[in-house]
Amino acid sequence: MGTMEGLDVTDCTRCPALVECRSQIVNGVGPEDADVLFIGEAPGAREDERGEPFVGRSGSVLDEKLRDRGLSRADVRITNCVRCRPPENRDPTTEELGNCREYLEREIELVDPDVIVTLGKVPSQHVLDRDVAVTNEAGSIEAVELGGTKRDVLVCLHPAATLYDRSQESTFESALDKAATMAGANGGQSNLGDF
Ligand code: URA
Repeated sequence: MGTMEGLDVTDCTRCPALVECRSQIVNGVGPEDADVLFIGEAPGAREDERGEPFVGRSGSVLDEKLRDRGLSRADVRITNCVRCRPPENRDPTTEELGNCREYLEREIELVDPDVIVTLGKVPSQHVLDRDVAVTNEAGSIEAVELGGTKRDVLVCLHPAATLYDRSQESTFESALDKAATMAGANGGQSNLGDF
């Protein structure tokens, strides 16, 4: 039903509606030992086409905000809760999120990041396993059992929120600044340079 090679899912047919809709499975990108792991919701049309997370408009916002902090996307790891594009960009269902959870947990376990940043409501709720009011909670940190150990999860807005409402930009940026401070905090050298 699903095959994983290292961090990549190479084959999976757990979600019939997504198998029908996808062009390809969109795996996470970035260093396998990244200090920061960003988790989005699911691939959209551009991501499905390119086979890479966050390469559409939301991705441009994320790239720009990383760049403002002296970083490129190659310095961080970026993945999604669900690796196949849902039809009409609908939210992934609870069942689909559950089907893909094993892959996400494995990725978290192998990357072993210092901080996990959840981008938006769906990933925040999925990872924290509770209701999350993202606008109010952005920037807050919660320790959760993930990939075999307790990990710090930083709630963040989805980058697209800053496109719809410019006033959200500073909230998004503060959360990124906080992630930077936390990177490398688990005893190791941060590989984020001056971030
Ligand atoms: N939004 C997401 O949540 N993930 C992507 O990969 C792109 C947009």
